[in-house]
Amino acid sequence: TGPAEVSPTGQELSGDPAEAAQAGAHLTTAQGTRLYDTDHSLKAGERGPVLLQDHHLREKITHFDHERIPERVVHARGAAAHGVFVGYGTAGDVSRAAFLAEGVATPVFTRFSTVLGSRGSADTVRDTRGFAVKFYTDEGVFDLVGNNIPVFFIQDAIKFPDIIHAGKPHPDREIPQAQSAHDTFWDFVSLHTEATHHTLWNMSDRGIPRSYRMMEGFGVHTFRLVNAAGATTLAKFHWKPKLGVHSLLWEEAQVINGVDPDFHRRDLADAIEAGAHPQWELGLQTFPDTEDQMFEGIDLLDSTKIVPEELAPVQPVGVLTLNANVSNYFAETEQVAFHVGHLVPGIDVTDDPLVAGRLHSYLDTQISRLGGPNFAQLPINRPHVPVNDMLRDGRHQSAVHRGVAPYRPNSLDGGCPFLAGATEGAFVEAPVTVPEASKVRRAPASYDDHFSQPRLFWLSMTPVEREHIISAYTFELSKCYEQAVKERTLRVLANIDPVLCQEVATGLGLPAPEATVELGTPAPSPALSQLRGTWPGD
Ligand code: HEM
Repeated sequence: TGPAEVSPTGQELSGDPAEAAQAGAHLTTAQGTRLYDTDHSLKAGERGPVLLQDHHLREKITHFDHERIPERVVHARGAAAHGVFVGYGTAGDVSRAAFLAEGVATPVFTRFSTVLGSRGSADTVRDTRGFAVKFYTDEGVFDLVGNNIPVFFIQDAIKFPDIIHAGKPHPDREIPQAQSAHDTFWDFVSLHTEATHHTLWNMSDRGIPRSYRMMEGFGVHTFRLVNAAGATTLAKFHWKPKLGVHSLLWEEAQVINGVDPDFHRRDLADAIEAGAHPQWELGLQTFPDTEDQMFEGIDLLDSTKIVPEELAPVQPVGVLTLNANVSNYFAETEQVAFHVGHLVPGIDVTDDPLVAGRLHSYLDTQISRLGGPNFAQLPINRPHVPVNDMLRDGRHQSAVHRGVAPYRPNSLDGGCPFLAGATEGAFVEAPVTVPEASKVRRAPASYDDHFSQPRLFWLSMTPVEREHIISAYTFELSKCYEQAVKERTLRVLANIDPVLCQEVATGLGLPAPEATVELGTPAPSPALSQLRGTWPGD
């Protein structure tokens, strides 16, 4: 049930979205007037001029003229499915969110996406993938708006327009359409070295998933969970696919992009239709909510850092199953509106400066993308619980609100729900102390290390995975026109690993620079010739 809906004559309007558009046996105008012909314009004589008075002609064409809405400013290309989430009850100690309780089944809608390409771009490009899940819980909508890579490019949302401007096609030639292989992208990530970790994941096999069904998902930020007693715990969300994590080879990705640009959306829809319903376990990494919000020397408010699973194992808290395809792409996949601020009691955000900007950005962009402030009334976005808000009017308002006093408390409509001693609900959460501080426009020193975790990632790769990473950097950088961009990126690679830097430099025909930071060496990094020796058939 959504907002109270009645017709002006007091008739209850059905919640069935199809009824508004496709009921009745006859073709009609939008006003319900029966038509007998929709193939011929009204004319003065069979070969005469078309008459302006033909309302059906004008209505039909005018509506068509307005069928498109702006695509998402990022994550424009996506595919989605319905499903169900069932809690294991194992998160009860840390969160009072009701949908995590044992055996509770919550309907969900999940949208996967690429980030940079436009709506009509290809699926198997090298890019980050979005992994956004809308839970229609009994306590309201909770959205987990994550990616398939556990870290982000930037530490502060104020740089988001910049990284996206750099990643999208060049403003003069509008190329490339969907790849990161171009000068502005590499210019940005080599100048903003906090992007090194995310970029390295992109250049690894994680950047070309085999299937949406075989991707991990990550909430990326650290969240603050609140249990029934009001105690808080910091946590990171993980989705683990039951089918395991699999990637394409670069050559496969190239061929598929040409042969079947819809490869990932077809794979998802075909699998669900065939009854092979993909599943993911939701897991939590938890950390004590200490005053400094650090764990083992890692700043939990820095979204360019992971916490290795060896230090904080992922504990399963529930399972997601996607079991039904969308019936209308526009109504569901295109009009769904996710938001990191859609939270339920028991889950809260932290002071990560990246999440702060997101909390503003999603609602703001959706007002423009979905044509006004009332898109929560669209069927795909409606909570599955009664709504009683004081939001009124605005474009595309479809509710007919009752009463005269849209404010609380009031003495006219008899409605004072907040004054009845209510203490339950979201957005009050556990009191968290904000340390006394002066206003500053700079990052903390704990955000300065941009290379140790990329190095950790590189050193954890198998020989064949390292070869793939080297080939990916070499291919991408070979597409850049600017020598200075290539050279600066090589200086970044030198700060990850000398072998990585040397191999890419050789591929580009450039000298390899020395590292400018001290490389922490958890394990010796063998030369690639040694690695190659270990790869059968090479
Ligand atoms: C869309 C994830 C950072 C702005 C999306 C979507 C995902 C996502 C999955 C697609 C949602 C859908 O399927 O409809 C993330 C993650 C981030 C991140 C994991 C970092 C941890 C940011 C930041 C901003 C931002 C910092 C802005 C300050 C947007 C916008 C959209 C979007 C404007 C389009 C939303 C729409 O039109 O409905 N993001 N994002 N994102 N994101 Fe982010």
